[in-house]
Amino acid sequence: MKATAVAPANIAFIKYWGRRDAKLRLPYNPSISMNLSNCLTTTMVEFSKKFPVDTISEGFNSVRVITHLDRLRKIAKMDEKANVVTKNNFPTSAGIASSASGFAALTVAAAAALRLKLTEKELTELARLGSGSACRSIPDGFVKWEGEYAWSLYPPDYWDLRDIIVIVGNGKKDVSSSHGHERVETSPYFQKRLADVPNRIKRLETALQEKNFKVFGETLEEDCLDMHHVMQTQNPPLYYWNAETVEIMELIKQRTVPAYFTIDAGPNVHIICEGKDEQKITKLFKKNNIIVNKPVRGARII
Ligand code: DP6
Repeated sequence: MKATAVAPANIAFIKYWGRRDAKLRLPYNPSISMNLSNCLTTTMVEFSKKFPVDTISEGFNSVRVITHLDRLRKIAKMDEKANVVTKNNFPTSAGIASSASGFAALTVAAAAALRLKLTEKELTELARLGSGSACRSIPDGFVKWEGEYAWSLYPPDYWDLRDIIVIVGNGKKDVSSSHGHERVETSPYFQKRLADVPNRIKRLETALQEKNFKVFGETLEEDCLDMHHVMQTQNPPLYYWNAETVEIMELIKQRTVPAYFTIDAGPNVHIICEGKDEQKITKLFKKNNIIVNKPVRGARII
């Protein structure tokens, strides 16, 4: 019993930071994201009686993957071990959401290999238990996650946006986002963030609906800075930026091109612009390693 799935990473415009239930990975606030066409994980899962133990490709967190396989085996009422072969086409753990594409691909491939008939909603609920942001990599295009599951707000061709990722570091990060989430309540600014997010979500959803790029960009940049403000004031504090990150933020802030930045749990900068301005941005970063992404479909079997 074998299946292969491919899933995109996603970039959040309104971020998930902090969980009201750590075990169930239930977020304090809703988040909104876009799937990334050039940050893909491909995962093959095979279950068989002939495997004495679970085997996972090197470089992936095998404890978390095996726990996730156990969840799926329990639903399928089956106990065969698995061989999992997984490959990213982008640097692992560089703050590009590799856990998102990873757990989305794993969930969809393992469910298919086990012949489970699950709806998209059920797949998002399962993926969420592996990694919160993974539930947003299953539906297509522009996605909202609230509470237990995620769904598509708009298909990929709804708005011709770009996420141009400027790679600043390929090294593994010091503190994983999973651990960072656990300390969010220690920031004196966290409650303020929770109070502000509902209006910010409304503003972003309206801007998305009206394709108002200026308001959209200002809002996503505001949410990025707000999340990092919380991260940096947690105990212990989390600083994901480096000098180059800040330099790029400053450059984008000059608005010589209509573009806005957002940053996850790592130093890379995601530059959000409209398709018509792609070249203006790529020209600015000729000397850097960049990944140009368009909106794309969610996880699927290949
Ligand atoms: C900063 O989804 O990686 O990228 O649920 O522990 O796997 P776990 O956390 P994870 O957190 C992502 C945090 C973020 C913001 C976001 O993508 O919304």
